[in-house]
Amino acid sequence: MRVQVGIVGAGPAGLFLAHLLHRAGIGAVNIERRSRADVESTLRAGVLEHWVVELMKQLGIGGRLAREAHFHSGITLQWNRERHHVDIEALTGGKSVCVYPQHEVLRDLIAGRLAHGGEIIFGVGDTAIRDIETDTPAIDFRRDGTGMPETLHCDYVVGADGFHGPGRQAIPRARRTEYQKVYPFGWLGILARTAPSWPELIYANQGDGFALLSTRSPDVQRMYVQCDPRDDIATWSDARIWDELHTRLGTGDGWTLQEGPIFQKGIVPLRSFVCDPMQHGRLFIAGDAAHIVPPTGAKGLNLAVADVLVLSRALDAKYRHGSDDGLRSYSATCLRRIWKGERFSWYMTTMLHRNDDETDFERRIHFADLDLVRTSEASARSLAENYVGLPFDDAAPAR
Ligand code: FAD
Ligand code: PHB
Repeated sequence: MRVQVGIVGAGPAGLFLAHLLHRAGIGAVNIERRSRADVESTLRAGVLEHWVVELMKQLGIGGRLAREAHFHSGITLQWNRERHHVDIEALTGGKSVCVYPQHEVLRDLIAGRLAHGGEIIFGVGDTAIRDIETDTPAIDFRRDGTGMPETLHCDYVVGADGFHGPGRQAIPRARRTEYQKVYPFGWLGILARTAPSWPELIYANQGDGFALLSTRSPDVQRMYVQCDPRDDIATWSDARIWDELHTRLGTGDGWTLQEGPIFQKGIVPLRSFVCDPMQHGRLFIAGDAAHIVPPTGAKGLNLAVADVLVLSRALDAKYRHGSDDGLRSYSATCLRRIWKGERFSWYMTTMLHRNDDETDFERRIHFADLDLVRTSEASARSLAENYVGLPFDDAAPAR
């Protein structure tokens, strides 16, 4: 098989890239380890930056989003049993918060891609990226995990294969620098069948730490509580989860948290990670393959889409005008945005979690940061601008 761009992974990065390349008249194939059903049902991100919403509309896959997503004018921060509304719309000149789960985005991307006649090969095994330092790179794989070995020959290979995929590992270890911070807490996430308890997302730091109240539909709510990342989920009975949510979200002013049957729960660890550079020879890595953020800033999926928007423009310039400039500056251009996403995610995470490794001094600083958002419009605006998505800045990086 031969294609202009071979993409490892059919997550947000890989599928948005395939759509963007299709729009530019460039051929691409996605090679995906998991089944379509698995990709379309894994629960992850919830919030889309405003420009990602616009991009989905431009790509012709925004119909369901327009009907089913939840748009909020702001978010609520809570500490000391008090709530503070951050009016994101007013602070950003009209940009709102869009809650539309990642698996719904993936369903729209996959359906749209197949409607365009695009190819996504699901359920592959033994994916191997090779010859990226030559002009004829390739991806080896087995169809359905066990089938005959096949090879996808391409002009460029994109590793959009998540944190554990082979993409990043194909960049020689001596040629990349990895920056990492692992947090001493994780998130226990649940889905509960109940009505919404509040009209927008609540990010709280109260009692034993963080809690997040989010939504999925009028009768399904998504909630998270901070926990030890090594906790066995079996030690978190439904009663214990509701207890923690009541403590961390309680206000004492008559507000009540709506309870209901919990039908899904799981624990994720929190980490920050950046790989620099994001390119080697004819291999480009994008999304979680290159960087991870803790979910408190709701940035992971959005950063992944930003990477492939930059990459699609660079590939378009190459195929249309023979210009290598965009491909050469791909990594530096992306990393400027990524480090700002890393900073914001770290800021939201440290401000909103209880970290027993920190001193009381540091804890007080985090509450001062929260109070600054309440009392300083500049501080609130900075949070709002980062939350809805910073503008794109394609200028050459200062190194
Ligand atoms: P992935 O989604 O990991 O996709 C990579 C794909 O590559 C996978 O489908 C995988 O199966 C495939 N693959 C891996 N190895 C191979 C191989 N060898 N061969 C072929 N295919 C392979 N982000 C936000 O923006 N907003 C949020 O609100 C938010 N909340 C989150 C909440 C939680 C609890 C979690 C865990 C994450 C959250 N994120 C959020 C982060 C977001 O989910 C990720 O950043 C996003 O999925 C990254 O997309 P990706 O395409 O780079 O990687
Ligand atoms: C979610 O709804 O899953 C969600 C919302 C906001 C976040 C993270 C996850 O910051």
